[in-house]
Amino acid sequence: MASKKKEVTLQVAINNQEQWEEMMLTKGLLVVDVYQAWCGPCKTAVSLFRKIKNELGDDLLQFAVAEADSIDALEKYRGKCEPTFLFFAAGELVAVVRGANAPLLQKTILEQLAAEKKVLTQGSERKVIKDDAILEDEEEISPLPVQSEDDELVPAGKSYTVAIIKPDAVAHGKADEIIMKIQEAGFEILANEERAMTESEARDFYQHRAGEEKFEELIQFMSSGPCHVLIISKSGEDEDIIPSWREFIGPTDVEVAKKEKPESLRAQYGTEVLYNAVHGSSDREQASRELAFFFPNFKVLHQDINESHPRNPERTLALIRPETLRDRKDEILQSICDAGFSIAMQKEVMLTEQQVKEFYKEHVNQDYYPALLKQMTSGPVLALALVKDHAVNHWRDMLGPANIEKALNEAPHSLRAQFPPKESGINQLHGSSSPEEAETEINFFFAVEHTLATIKPDALEEHRDEILERIQDAGFTISQFKETNLSKEMAKEFYKEHKGKTFYDELVNYMCKGPCLMMVLSKENAVQEWRSLMGPTDPAEAQMSSPDSLRSVFAKSVLQNAVHGASNLNHAMEKIQFIFGDIDVDRTADGSFTKATSHSQDEDGTQAEDSTNYTTNADGEADTEKENN
Ligand code: CMP
Repeated sequence: MASKKKEVTLQVAINNQEQWEEMMLTKGLLVVDVYQAWCGPCKTAVSLFRKIKNELGDDLLQFAVAEADSIDALEKYRGKCEPTFLFFAAGELVAVVRGANAPLLQKTILEQLAAEKKVLTQGSERKVIKDDAILEDEEEISPLPVQSEDDELVPAGKSYTVAIIKPDAVAHGKADEIIMKIQEAGFEILANEERAMTESEARDFYQHRAGEEKFEELIQFMSSGPCHVLIISKSGEDEDIIPSWREFIGPTDVEVAKKEKPESLRAQYGTEVLYNAVHGSSDREQASRELAFFFPNFKVLHQDINESHPRNPERTLALIRPETLRDRKDEILQSICDAGFSIAMQKEVMLTEQQVKEFYKEHVNQDYYPALLKQMTSGPVLALALVKDHAVNHWRDMLGPANIEKALNEAPHSLRAQFPPKESGINQLHGSSSPEEAETEINFFFAVEHTLATIKPDALEEHRDEILERIQDAGFTISQFKETNLSKEMAKEFYKEHKGKTFYDELVNYMCKGPCLMMVLSKENAVQEWRSLMGPTDPAEAQMSSPDSLRSVFAKSVLQNAVHGASNLNHAMEKIQFIFGDIDVDRTADGSFTKATSHSQDEDGTQAEDSTNYTTNADGEADTEKENN
C-alpha cells in the first residue's frame, strides 16, 4: 500500500516509486517538476502554474513535484541541474520542457490539455513521445548517435531553415502539392508538423513585426487555421540553405513575385502581400529562433562523434540595471538558474558616462538615451556572462519586450514585466541580440586580463600537477611561468602590503622554504576568476563557502594556504612586472601569447634572463618551451 502523499498547495509531492505509479493513473494532464534534492523544485514556475490553474479551473490539469533520486522511474534524470517538466497523459509522456521558460510552459500546458481532451472526448490518438535526456544517455553508450524513429535530428554541419505553409494555402488544399514541389526542387523536409497557431503564439512568433500597419491583420490571418511548419535542409550540401530557399519562395509581395519570379511558390500560390502562402526564415539567427519556437526538442547534431551531448552551447551577456539590482538581485539570479543557465562570469561595476556611451553607441541619438544613461550610472550594474544551448535567444525570450508597457500588457510572465522599474521607466534587464553581439558585449565587460598567480612551496611539492590541471580546466592560459626560490628580500618586497602584520615574518620565511611556481594567468576577467578558483584565504572558510576551491582542497592553514593571487588589476600588473620584468602578454593573431624574454629578478635580486613560456596550442594542449639563453 502506498504511503500517504503529502498535498502541497498546488503540486502533489511524489516521494517514491509507489506514489509515482499511483500518480501515473491520473486522468487528464499531469505536469511533473522533476527536481534534484540539492536544488529543490523550481520556484519560478509555481506562480505560473497557480495562475493557469486558477484561470482554467480545470480538474483535468494536475501538477506534481518529484525528486529524481527517490523514484526509480526517474533514474535517467538524476544529477541534471536544468529544471525539467514532464507532461504525462494517462501515464504516457506527451511533452517535455527544459528550463523555467514561462511562455513555453504555458503554451505546452494549453496545447497538451487541449490534445488530451480530444483524446478523451473524441477518441483521437494520443501523441506519445520519448525524452531527449534518455536518448542522450543512450548516445553516451554508443559512439555514434543512433537515430530512432522518434528522434528529430538536424544532420551534422547542415544548414536548415524553418518554413511555414500558411493557413491560406492549407485552406485551399494546396499543402501536399507545395510539399511535393519543395521535394522536387531538391529540398529535404526534416520535419513537417500540421498545427494551428493560437493568437498568442502568432503574436509571439511575429513580435519583431509588432507596430507594423498590418500587424493585427497578420496575427488574425496566421491564427485563422492550420498551417504546416517545416524544417527544410538540402541533401548533400553544406552551404547556407536560406538564400536558395528564399529564392525558391520568391518575393514577399505576390504581385512582384508574379512579375519577377513567376515560377516561385508565392507567385503560384499567394494571392496578396499578406496571403502569400509561405514563410521562410530571413537569416540563420531567425532560423534558429524559429526552430526553438516550434520544435523546442529538436536537436542539431554536431560533427564530433566523441561529443556525447550533441548540443549548441552559446554565451550571452545579461545586465541587471541599478534600480532593480539593489533589492531584487537574488530573485533574478534564481530565475536565471531555474532556466538552466550557468553563470560563467559575473561582475558588479560602476560605469562611467563614457563607458555607457561606448556600450550604447548605437543608441546615443535616441530620445530615451538620457534616461538610460542616468539609470546606468545611478549605481552598480551586474554584468553576467550566461551559458546555455541557444543562450542568446533563450535569454531574449525570457526577457520579453523591451518596452515596459508592452511587456506588462502582452508578456506578463516575462522577466522585464516581473522586475519592472519603480522610478526610471527604463527596463531593468538587458540581453545581447545575436551571438556576435554577445561576444562583443562580453568582451566589453570581461576583457582578457592577466593576473599573477603563485603555487606556494609546500603545495608545489605535494600537489603541483593537480593544481596545474585545475588551472587548465578552468580555462586559464598560463602565458608565463617560472619556478623560483624567492630570496628573503624578494619575499619581503612581494608581500610588502602585509608589512607590520603579526604573521609577516612567518609568511616571508614560509615563502622562502623552497621553490614556488610563479605564473601569469590569462583569461577574460582573470583577476576575479583566479581569486574565485583559489577561494578564501582561510581554508576553514573556504571549506564552508567554496568546497571545490583550491584552498579548500589543498591548503593546510591560513598561512600555508597553497596558492596566491593578485587582489586587483593594478596589483596584478605590478607583481607581474616584479616577477617577470617587462614582458609582452598581449595576444597574437593566432590566439596564443607572444613569446617574450622576461627580464626577472633572481634569488639574489639581480636581473636574470629567463624565458620559459607555457602556451596553449591550437588543439588546446599545453606546450612548454624552454629556451636556454
Ligand atoms: P596570500 O593570498 O598569499 O596573501 C597574504 C598571505 O598571508 C596569505 O595568502 C596567507 O598565506 C597569509 N596570511 C593571511 N592572513 C594570515 C593569518 N591571519 N595568519 C597567518 N597567515 C596569514
